[in-house]
Amino acid sequence: MEHNNYVIDQMISAKSIAARVEALAHEISDYFKGTDKLVVVGLLRGSFVFIADLARELDLPVEIDFMETSSYGNAMESSKEVRILKDIRGEIEGRDVLVVEDIVDTGHTLKHVIDILKTRHPKRLKICALLDKPSRREVDITADWIGFEIPDKFVVGYGIDYAQRNRNLDHIGSVRFVEE
Ligand code: IMP
Ligand code: MG
Repeated sequence: MEHNNYVIDQMISAKSIAARVEALAHEISDYFKGTDKLVVVGLLRGSFVFIADLARELDLPVEIDFMETSSYGNAMESSKEVRILKDIRGEIEGRDVLVVEDIVDTGHTLKHVIDILKTRHPKRLKICALLDKPSRREVDITADWIGFEIPDKFVVGYGIDYAQRNRNLDHIGSVRFVEE
């Protein structure tokens, strides 16, 4: 796809994503088997497509909730300062919770969210991330389930944006800048 000054090169096809999401959902369903309810917390906005697909493959009683964070900086850089813009609606004390994130990059966002949720004493608190860029990590955090490990490239699609665009791409692509 062509934009003003960049092109998007396909990195992970829609078909590969669908297969991986199904496999992740099986593993997660096995892990939480017997739970009275799993609270699936999607981090807005990047996880909205992933959470929709993942949740529909889970063979468990599920409640869906959302949290929105913001990190300051420009469109392509993460920041250490994370703020909660929107908190979850439900109570999670004594509940099984699965946090669903689009990408773990430096890890600051996830670390911040997990630290907050932990203070509410959930029964089990697990993390599922579609993408992981381990080479970028600045804080010690790892997701319990990861869709794909990717190199240090800026990606878009399947919910993930560049300057609020390309979230509606059905696959994951990497952004490559070209001369105008
Ligand atoms: P972290 O706090 O550095 O781990 O940043 C995580 C957040 O930064 C993700 O939830 C994304 O919103 C954003 N992000 C990190 N890498 C990318 C990328 O390659 N494309 C688009 N957004 C990204
Ligand atoms: Mg995000």
